[in-house]
Amino acid sequence: MKIAILHGPRDLRIEEQSLNVSQLAPDEIHVKTIISAFKIGTDRGNYEGAEQVPGAPGYPRWVGDSNLGEVLAVGSAVKRVQVGDRIVTRQPHQSEYVMKESGSLARVPEGVEPEDAVYAHLYALSSLCYRKAFFQPGENVAVVGVGVLGLGAVALGPLFGARVVALANSPVRLDMAAQMGAHAGLLSNDPDLALKLDTFTRGAGIDLVILTANPWPAYRTALDIVRPNGRVSIVSLLGRGEDALDFNPLSMERFYTRGISLIAVSGAAGYLYPKNSVTGETEDRFSADRAAEHVLDLMADGKLHPSSLITHRFHYSQMVEAYEMAYRREKSMLGVIFEWQDA
Ligand SMILES: NC(=O)c1ccc[n+]([C@@H]2O[C@H](COP(=O)([O-])OP(=O)(O)OC[C@H]3O[C@@H](n4cnc5c(N)ncnc54)[C@H](OP(=O)(O)O)[C@@H]3O)[C@@H](O)[C@H]2O)c1
Repeated sequence: MKIAILHGPRDLRIEEQSLNVSQLAPDEIHVKTIISAFKIGTDRGNYEGAEQVPGAPGYPRWVGDSNLGEVLAVGSAVKRVQVGDRIVTRQPHQSEYVMKESGSLARVPEGVEPEDAVYAHLYALSSLCYRKAFFQPGENVAVVGVGVLGLGAVALGPLFGARVVALANSPVRLDMAAQMGAHAGLLSNDPDLALKLDTFTRGAGIDLVILTANPWPAYRTALDIVRPNGRVSIVSLLGRGEDALDFNPLSMERFYTRGISLIAVSGAAGYLYPKNSVTGETEDRFSADRAAEHVLDLMADGKLHPSSLITHRFHYSQMVEAYEMAYRREKSMLGVIFEWQDA
């Protein structure tokens, strides 16, 4: 099988590795990848050799974690999937693999296109930005940073009952946000930002900011535009691979006196849904896979189309080209699909 391995900064190679599928353990699943999607923010950071993320592997390392494949075989005890099912997983960019049934996966419902479904776990993370911040229908939400995760938050907002304004650092990305259903879009360095947001919210202010950009100026914008006592969901890895910060991120006037809540969007939101008292089940009601199932249901209902913003499709052998484009921060690049089927 083929797998993308990063050997060091900007040293990505497609390699051949052996995979023994002759005898699956009872809880194993053999999957053939159809497509995988580029998670630009995280993947680019790894590719550039930006600051190490705690818990992430060192070099040489796999890359990618949005994979859509077909189940080729299952072990004798597997219950979650059957041969022939299409599943989305958080497996790396690779042509086939064997995973445990207990690993992260969600079945793709009938009628959902692969190029939509492959974004299920990324959009599940976008949905966690709302959920973890106790979003209420009707709130005004600003999404700062318009990459894949930001556009997921933009697209989900109206479905959740939010009024959404996108804040980008390029007009190209504002066009994309409009296409994904943003009610408004502004450049984050607009000199009249405060006034325009005031008009957008009819004076009520931005209740929740979803921050998906790493640079510190984006963080400063987030704190400056949220209303007093508002919340900022931070899904970005602040400062990763960016210039050092030149201001106090928790200054009294920006943070303390305005009563702002900063929320780290990582891991689970299980505290919102304690153990089920009837079944005794301890699973997080909105685990990554449950949230991905929700996103897939919205796709099946025809309400969510991440594929409409696919800008590039590459055969896996051309993967380095895609990473180099991300390295150059090409704004026209957004949804990038890697195709794993050899003709
Ligand atoms: N918390 C988690 O569990 C988790 C999981 C996955 C990913 N992440 C992180 O989430 C973030 C978003 O991922 P992504 O793939 O969507 O990343 P992305 O493609 O880099 O999106 C961020 C966007 O924000 C833009 N931006 C930068 N500064 C800005 C500013 N001042 N105002 C407005 N926009 C600005 C960036 O533009 P430039 O390219 O010009 O900088 C980029 O287009 C990344 O930091 C990623 O590492 C977190």
